[in-house]
Amino acid sequence: MSTPHNAAKRGDFAETVLFPGDPLRARHIATTLLSDAVQVNAVRNMLAYTGTWRGQRISVMGSGMGIPSCSLYATELIRDYGVKRIVRVGTCGAVADALALGDIVLGQGACTDSSVNRIRFGGYDYAPIASWQLLVTVAARVAAVAAETGRSPGLHVGNVFSSDFFDHPDASLPGLLRRHGVLAIDMESAGLYAVAAELGAEALSVMAVSDHILRKEHMSPAQRETGLDEMVGLVLDALTGR
Ligand code: HPA
Repeated sequence: MSTPHNAAKRGDFAETVLFPGDPLRARHIATTLLSDAVQVNAVRNMLAYTGTWRGQRISVMGSGMGIPSCSLYATELIRDYGVKRIVRVGTCGAVADALALGDIVLGQGACTDSSVNRIRFGGYDYAPIASWQLLVTVAARVAAVAAETGRSPGLHVGNVFSSDFFDHPDASLPGLLRRHGVLAIDMESAGLYAVAAELGAEALSVMAVSDHILRKEHMSPAQRETGLDEMVGLVLDALTGR
């Protein structure tokens, strides 16, 4: 069995899938972090792999950018491949003062300018939230790393805003979000959380702060690479019960 967007057979995916936006990051995670990784999809170059981490089966697949792409692949993973947990591993642009480049944001909830959830939810306003179990598991692992090593990235848990725009036409938006306690902007979480909720799976977005939108700070490509690798290692340890 396959879908129009995924050539994998049922059983090719593990129950837990890491979901970076960039399919080349999925390949990087599979080839540098996972053991025995096998490519299970390449349709539209949306690369997907299944391998192991500390002996436990885990998959990684690109989600593409934005709610439509992310939602489509997440829907098929859960509905057609029996995936139970999707953890988005990506970047976000901070708006809150307390956030620094390289910090980690766990999206506890996700506001949005997209109308997909209103359409999905009968015209009412849906409040997309992360899986509490996944949230607590990843937060506990970050705390454990801090205790073990004496160093760990800053951790922030709270609301994010998933936008259909990378360059938003409303210049006042970052200030509005900051005043309402929103931590950062991404482009996927609100869609991912609602898809997972509707289809009975768990989801969480774990995001490195790659930009500070109000302070106009940006990570270099090299900083992005290292920051994301460390973050993904931490998420893999958390998911496999280390
Ligand atoms: N906006 C939306 N998503 C992002 C950003 C941003 O500024 N930076 C990293 N992901």
